Amino acid sequence: MNFDFTEEHLLIKESAKDFAENEIAPTAIERDKNAEFPEKLVKQMGELGFMGMMVSPDYGGAGMDTISYALAMIEISKVDASLGVIMSVNNSLVCWGLEEYGSDYVKEKFLTPLAQGEKLGAFALSEPEAGSDATKQKTTADADGDFYVINGMKNWITNGISADYYLVMATTDKGKAHKGISTLLVENGTEGFGHGAKEDKLGIRSSDTCSLTFENCKVPKENLVWEEGKGFNFAMNTLNGGRIGIACQAVGIAEASLEASLKYSQERKAFGKEISNFQAIQFMLSDMAVKVDAAKILTFKAAAMKDVGKKYVKEAAMAKLYASKIAVECALDAIQIHGGYGYVREYLVERYLRDAKITEIYEGTSEIQRIVIARALLDSV
Ligand code: CAA
Repeated sequence: MNFDFTEEHLLIKESAKDFAENEIAPTAIERDKNAEFPEKLVKQMGELGFMGMMVSPDYGGAGMDTISYALAMIEISKVDASLGVIMSVNNSLVCWGLEEYGSDYVKEKFLTPLAQGEKLGAFALSEPEAGSDATKQKTTADADGDFYVINGMKNWITNGISADYYLVMATTDKGKAHKGISTLLVENGTEGFGHGAKEDKLGIRSSDTCSLTFENCKVPKENLVWEEGKGFNFAMNTLNGGRIGIACQAVGIAEASLEASLKYSQERKAFGKEISNFQAIQFMLSDMAVKVDAAKILTFKAAAMKDVGKKYVKEAAMAKLYASKIAVECALDAIQIHGGYGYVREYLVERYLRDAKITEIYEGTSEIQRIVIARALLDSV
């Protein structure tokens, strides 16, 4: 077993770190405060290859492996988890699924600009009455000549306002329950397609989240991704990789919490010495470091298994479950170490807590991850 990254991996990590620290960090606090979408930064990330990292160069991507993607995701999320989720949705939930299951037409027309960062993608599975219980989709897509006509509503859609292309799960055959769900690509601006207002969120405030509405929204039949009736499998398979992305986002937040705590505890003095001298603080730092390392190992294991073509459903769920839990714990410890300063916006750690919480909810709640893990365990004996 080799725990070393290759030279190429380390270069990618360094370039993501440089970009995050020099370009993303200066505006992160203001964007969080104003819930402002980082349009310019997303474009820059596209130019640098971060928006289609795993897509083949044939379709404008960077042609890298999942380990490279995970390293970049962690560095970006460490500085701004909002950009982390924007990047993760475009790479894992949109580009990956399109490349894996899309027709040549879909790949050429839509994947290439998404991978190059010219266009932004969103993934629309959740509905007001179908969150964790995702098979209960109510949105419909009825065949009508050369088109599908979509009606229904989606919610909690990341990149919901800013996206150009949406992968929408909708029922094309009501009699077949989840086996009647299909995936359709809808372009922003299509007649009958609309979005709600930006949600006023606790965290990841610089990303935009909203509901989507479809009222007799007509999309060409060529925009079907994979086959009719394969939409639920598409969503599940895609979310497995998405969960690696969210695990990386959580690892980034946890690591940022640890680094901020190490720095602050060596500067802040109490009872005549730096607080890092006290065991109460040292124990928290040690626990945080163990958790960050354990979460990284789970996350890179899932990424490595995906890269060699092994089944990684359980490993991705384990990585997301654990990394999201410890991201919240590490952010809480960072606030405790910072004392009153941790509770105000002047220091970054209060944002880490607000940003961390969503990682236990989206792309499958922690409870869903436990179900996925338990089913995989029970299936294997
Ligand atoms: N990977 C691959 N396939 C899976 C899967 C997985 N992790 N989990 C389920 N499936 C497949 C099953 O094999 C089955 O396929 P077939 O019918 O072809 O055999 C099908 O899905 C239905 O599965 P179940 O019979 O097990 O259905 P269920 O209702 O008992 O459980 C569930 C399904 C696992 C709970 C699923 O509904 C689920 O994962 N829910 C969570 C949904 C989710 O993660 N939503 C996130 C929204 S997207 C988001 O957050 C994006 C964003 O913007 C950030």
